[in-house]
Amino acid sequence: MKAKKLIEVALPIKEISAESVRDKSIRHGHISTLHLWWARRPLPVCRAIVFASLVPDPLDENCPEAFKYAVEMLLNTELGKLHYKPYKDIPYTSIVDEMEDNHRNRLMMFIGKFSEKCQENMKAGKSTPPKEQLDDWSLIKWENKNNPKILRIARELIFVAYQSDKRPDATWEELHAEFDNLYDAIPKAEAALYELKDHHIETDKVKQLEAELQAAIDTFQNEMPSVFDPFAGGGAIPLEAARLGCRSYGNDINPVAHIIERGSAEFPQKYGKPIVYSDSEFISRYGDKGIEMAQETDRNIIHDNKGYHIPNRLAFDVEFYAKKILAETEKEVGYLYPADEKGNKPVAYYWARTAKCSNPSCGAEVPMLKGFYLCNTSKKKVYLNPVIKGTDIQFEIKNGNCDHLKPFLKGRECSLMCPCCGSVTDGKAVKKMSKNHLTGERFIAVIKEGKNGKEYILPSDKDIKMCAVTFDNLERPIGDLPKNDSQNLKIPLWGYETWASMFSNRQINFLSSLITNYSKVIINSESDYNKVVLTYLALFISRLTVANTTFGRWSDLRETVVALFSKQAIPMIFDYPESNPFCTSSGSAYNQIDWIIRYIESERLTNFPAIFANASSGEKTQFNKKSIYAVVTDPPYYDAIAYADLSDFFYVWMKQTLTSIFPLNFATPKTPKIEECTAIKHHFDGDEKAAEKHFERKLTEIFDAIEQQTSDVVSIMFAHQSTKAWTTLCNSILDARMNITGSWPMDTERDVRPMGLSGAALESSVTVACRPSEREGFADFDEVKHDIRQLVKAEVEKLYGLGFRGADLLTACFGQAVSVFGHYKLVETAEGDPVSVGQLLEFARESAAQALLEGVPGEPQTKFYCGWLQMNGMGECDFDDVNKYTRVGVNVEIRQLQSDRLLITEGSQQYLATAEEHLGSNETWGTQPTDYMISQVHRIMMAYRMGNQVLLLKLVRDLCPQSDAPQWRVLDFLGGHLPEGKDLNDVKGILASAEMLRQKCKEAVQHQEGSLDFGE
Ligand SMILES: C[S@@+](CC[C@H](N)C(=O)[O-])C[C@H]1O[C@@H](n2cnc3c(N)ncnc32)[C@H](O)[C@@H]1O
Ligand SMILES: [Zn+2]
Repeated sequence: MKAKKLIEVALPIKEISAESVRDKSIRHGHISTLHLWWARRPLPVCRAIVFASLVPDPLDENCPEAFKYAVEMLLNTELGKLHYKPYKDIPYTSIVDEMEDNHRNRLMMFIGKFSEKCQENMKAGKSTPPKEQLDDWSLIKWENKNNPKILRIARELIFVAYQSDKRPDATWEELHAEFDNLYDAIPKAEAALYELKDHHIETDKVKQLEAELQAAIDTFQNEMPSVFDPFAGGGAIPLEAARLGCRSYGNDINPVAHIIERGSAEFPQKYGKPIVYSDSEFISRYGDKGIEMAQETDRNIIHDNKGYHIPNRLAFDVEFYAKKILAETEKEVGYLYPADEKGNKPVAYYWARTAKCSNPSCGAEVPMLKGFYLCNTSKKKVYLNPVIKGTDIQFEIKNGNCDHLKPFLKGRECSLMCPCCGSVTDGKAVKKMSKNHLTGERFIAVIKEGKNGKEYILPSDKDIKMCAVTFDNLERPIGDLPKNDSQNLKIPLWGYETWASMFSNRQINFLSSLITNYSKVIINSESDYNKVVLTYLALFISRLTVANTTFGRWSDLRETVVALFSKQAIPMIFDYPESNPFCTSSGSAYNQIDWIIRYIESERLTNFPAIFANASSGEKTQFNKKSIYAVVTDPPYYDAIAYADLSDFFYVWMKQTLTSIFPLNFATPKTPKIEECTAIKHHFDGDEKAAEKHFERKLTEIFDAIEQQTSDVVSIMFAHQSTKAWTTLCNSILDARMNITGSWPMDTERDVRPMGLSGAALESSVTVACRPSEREGFADFDEVKHDIRQLVKAEVEKLYGLGFRGADLLTACFGQAVSVFGHYKLVETAEGDPVSVGQLLEFARESAAQALLEGVPGEPQTKFYCGWLQMNGMGECDFDDVNKYTRVGVNVEIRQLQSDRLLITEGSQQYLATAEEHLGSNETWGTQPTDYMISQVHRIMMAYRMGNQVLLLKLVRDLCPQSDAPQWRVLDFLGGHLPEGKDLNDVKGILASAEMLRQKCKEAVQHQEGSLDFGE
């Protein structure tokens, strides 16, 4: 028997969650800033899962001695002794619970540990800035992604784990010496190559040193485990596996993702290295512009008698050539974006699409404006004030409030409200006009950089003239948008049917000029290095396409351009900013270069590039049998994101820049659709069932191949809560002859929105660890149920203590339930019917809910409410059913429930009251600790809905200041059972801000004992 891996027994999920939430706001040097891809996973969770999938549990009786020794030596000596010491008292729990100082816990603390300061703050109920939450020695901390000391420890632990798995008799001393030997050979070989002057010239000496470096890297990596991600996407998982020194493989079917992956986890690691150019070489390559760049201090370029020492050759080249292309392009088309008399360049031009009023006697061309604010912050308000003369609509720009103005385009239905004659043109007619290309566009304002943020002015004659310039023979990207995907791509319904139609003429002109200059820039695109530089330049142009469409938005709150794809879709937009790529503000094209450079530089210290294939996964011959050690992945989910359809936006442009470099990847007119592992209806002629079948079959096929090719753990991240999603995932796992052996929820998506905003997300992702399994024998569902109930109950209590709530908590138990079920070939009911995974998960969810409710004190009204909701939802039901339930289930009089307004009666029908119906106009119900628990909870919900912060805080303080108060359990229960609607929105919002609320109460009590001023 081999030892279990850490991921199967323990994981510091609170710590990983904290750093993962922080990860979403990290910008400079972060993988997400290189190029957009959808549904990226946070880096801390990727790094933690890869690491924990590779090292054994040191407390496992089968754990190799050498590994235990490694933990002792690397995590319990010198400074590690202190830094990786387990908590004296686990900070996020309310009891005093010392964590035993053992090797498993030390390994957890190495992955992630809360800093001393954060521990103290947590106990005092205070918050800690995200940056300071984790201890500086934590593996997953952002700042440590290049920390040589920490990475060395991680790599050595993985090395020893892997080697002692293969050679159980090897001692720590032997393995430690081997590791040092192999590992230290790499920097030596690097130094030899990078110190050699002009190593860009392929001399025999250079070739020899390059081969020696490659050999050093290979020899080391041959002794490290291999990790594979079959759904690599933006590349976060392979990036982290490579960072930990593993041989890291990633597949993605999508060519756009493939290029982004290589730009993220292959090229910087391979080519982002130092170089010394002799003076003559440097000058002949870069000329005066290069010397100018070398003199700018922030690049840390040293010039001495040896020549120019460039810390990162790739970053320097990409910057140099991107600037060159841009400068050439500006020379050609810059006049289209004229500066004013003082030389100030506009930031953007504000446009509105227009539609004709349907009143035949009017026919005004009305700008489709849903609002008039250009800037709407608490300190500054600027708006467009309409001036109507007959059917002529002009605007003036005014300061102040414009809430009194009625929009020209109304709400969701998009009906046109003519300001000239007052007629209403119905939304359908407006859409039809747009579809038939009978709508127009109007240039309304110019946005400039001013002293107090942005300045808004009416267009000058010159501005108007420049946007009216027409161009002959513009080369446009080729390709149609999918017509029948109204879920993700709304604009074809409005007549925007080609990808090219998403750009103004001026934008197309700018982008094609860029591409022309791009193709002139490096003549020799044969060399691998030059191809890499060209790839980044293509990514740069691709970034500019997102910022230069007519489907971005102007944010009147932040006064910035919000580029396309702020959602995973392309919604219809009626007014938009046309950016000036040559402006000097943060959204300019020059600034876009910076994001790319910073990313390349931030990954220069890792030597291990990942290896990517642009292929559909599931190919049985891709790897030899059991030749991959571990799989870590994050699969798509049904139709949640239409990767292939959306990515065609980029693909049609990349085809122009990258076909000559990667002809195979860009051979087809569009990205591959059919083999994509998603359930996109319109790929199957609108047949939803066929699409779903395809997704399920594909997922099983891919897991099946994985099972054959992988020798150890398969870890799968999954961010979906519906039972359907889980049923599919678990079916695919079980059908591929694997079983779940560990399951971990993490709050990687937590998004605490301000109070009163509905739909606040409290979302977690769950990672399940799986292994090939021998499924044996038959079992009786009743017995299995018993085991599941026990396991789930223990899990609920544990996760509840860790702060998981609502639907998150219920789904988090699925993994446990499946692990019981998956032991058997078949589980049967008493009647001999096979039990499906769907039934099993339903049962698991109910057991989890039951376990939750067990913590709620036994007052029948609340029990009735929750129990009934769980069984019947909020819909109407028959009197007799309710009557039976009240007598058998909870023992409460039906009349009592009616007079308490928990149950609303209409004729013979009954339904459960919403919070609003229950409390009605009564102002006291639910404000006292002696009231029904459900009334208290409804009161809290209503206070939240009204945005009454003072009342809300008072209620929390009086009723449920502790995180383990039963009111929170009832809220969690409701969160897992209420149907979509206002009540559910409130519950989600409250749960998302629960910690903040409790904390504010504590602070208010501490600071101003007795008064109820919460500083709002
Ligand atoms: C959830 S995303 C992965 C995101 C990634 N973990 C990240 O952090 O960026 C799933 C990916 O699976 C890819 N995919 C879908 N079907 C595939 C297939 N048949 N073979 C390989 N990749 C596929 C999609 O293109 C998408 O990029
Ligand atoms: Zn009109």
